[in-house]
Amino acid sequence: MSPSALNGETAVGPEGPRQKSRATIDTIRVGCIAMVEKDGQARRAEILSIRDTKSGRQFYCNFDNFNKRLDEWVPVKRIDFDQDVEWPNPEKDKPKDGKGKNSTAPKRKVVGNKAQKRPGKREQSVASEAVTPHPWPDFTDSQPQSKAPSTPRDLEPKAGETPGANGDDMDVDEDESTLEVKKEGGGFSREAEIEKLRTGGSMTQNPTELARIRNISKVQFGQWDLFPWYFSPYPEAFTQEDVIFICEFCLSYYGDKKSFCRHRSKCTLQHPPGNEIYRDDYVSFFEIDGRRQRTWCRNLCLISKMFLDHKTLYYDVDPFLFYVMTQKSEKGHHLVGYFSKEKESADGYNVACILTLPQYQRKGFGRLLIQFSYELSKIEGKLGSPEKPLSDLGLLSYRQYWSENILELLLECNERDEKSSIEQISSTLAMTTQDVEHTLQALKMQVYHKGEHKLVIPESLIKLREKTKQKQKRFIAPERIQWKPPVFTASSRTWGW
Ligand code: ACO
Ligand code: ZN
Repeated sequence: MSPSALNGETAVGPEGPRQKSRATIDTIRVGCIAMVEKDGQARRAEILSIRDTKSGRQFYCNFDNFNKRLDEWVPVKRIDFDQDVEWPNPEKDKPKDGKGKNSTAPKRKVVGNKAQKRPGKREQSVASEAVTPHPWPDFTDSQPQSKAPSTPRDLEPKAGETPGANGDDMDVDEDESTLEVKKEGGGFSREAEIEKLRTGGSMTQNPTELARIRNISKVQFGQWDLFPWYFSPYPEAFTQEDVIFICEFCLSYYGDKKSFCRHRSKCTLQHPPGNEIYRDDYVSFFEIDGRRQRTWCRNLCLISKMFLDHKTLYYDVDPFLFYVMTQKSEKGHHLVGYFSKEKESADGYNVACILTLPQYQRKGFGRLLIQFSYELSKIEGKLGSPEKPLSDLGLLSYRQYWSENILELLLECNERDEKSSIEQISSTLAMTTQDVEHTLQALKMQVYHKGEHKLVIPESLIKLREKTKQKQKRFIAPERIQWKPPVFTASSRTWGW
């Protein structure tokens, strides 16, 4: 799948009319919408930042109808100055932090001047017609887009001397100095927001001030080079680096190779710092308490934020358990993906955030993570659902999981000549009745006949299932899960011992 504009993707710029006129390289500014070349086509794009580099001025563009992970720095020649640009509305688009006001290009990086997620964006429709023609609930705000996967490298970093300062402590109860950021008149400064995200508190992003610009270009992680999709609140100093180095076991991060190598020579961790609660010949799962392993879990969140443009990603890790999936080699347990789960979810969510590292995506690991989350719910005797909103990729994966499993169950019932109901499907699969119902509707399996509602399986789905059955899929073997629901005291949200 090549990156392309897709229907229903979020549009750039605020609603309402804007002034239009010609701009020059010196007058175009942050907040302007211009025609910018992308993949050989002129597209509307909003300028989010401007910088001067050795090779000339560059503009950070967010393209109309493209997922934000396809934002990029473009040189002047890709901007069409023969067409009018739309100027930011001085009142509506006023920068929240007082930056980006100058009409001339600033020497230093300037961050976008308004909310990333404007009201109404999330309300726009999502379902990609190419993926499913059926109506689905609008859980998300963007579209699937492909992204070049990470490239493996052949060289493992050489060991160095002493461990780096950050992150290699396995803290149980680290002293917290949480930086409180005051909301003055509803505004956050960008610096304060990032500091807040980085140093503590919830990672719920302030809707009026989001870090819109990808700040890390490349990450060396184990044998892989990762190319982040989104902003992640690593310390400012790290954003100046061409590449940052992350220890794939303890997840601590380094801006220079020497200190990273020194760290690697000392780091003894070979698996996530928790109990291995599942093992088969393909993957293992470890359960990690955010409170007991705060640094490790925060480092995991920092990594995952690079690939999640999720409305809420919790950096306050204490209230969460992390279920981390690994694959084993002679070097240790390599991180493949994870999901986090609130210790107590008032909304009945069984997953908060879910991620497969990009080098492992589209290989069936997401399906295993999702299955694992539902297996835990079955053991708990609860119904579960992922936290909303889902990302584009999250929605695709969940739809697939729900559809496959519901269809499979209904066919089994059919073979045994048993009746099935939404409640029965829901309790057997630990899915909420709402998720079951939406799936049945989307698959057109629910019919009303003579005042009765019935479940029918269209012939086309049976054929599709025959086809997909030929694909070798892997599953979690529930009987191998060694787990009892942990007990937490409500006040401390910690282990009840
Ligand atoms: N395009 C089309 N369909 C897709 C795509 C895609 N890029 N990715 C997944 N799917 C669908 C497919 O139907 C696929 O089944 P198939 O391969 O048999 O057709 C199904 O989802 C499962 O795919 P997996 O390979 O098992 O999933 P993967 O390991 O790639 O993980 C995940 C999915 C976790 C969503 C991954 O894409 C990811 O980490 N994305 C970035 C982070 C993210 O968006 N997380 C979800 C946020 S929502 C939340 O946290 C609650
Ligand atoms: Zn380490």
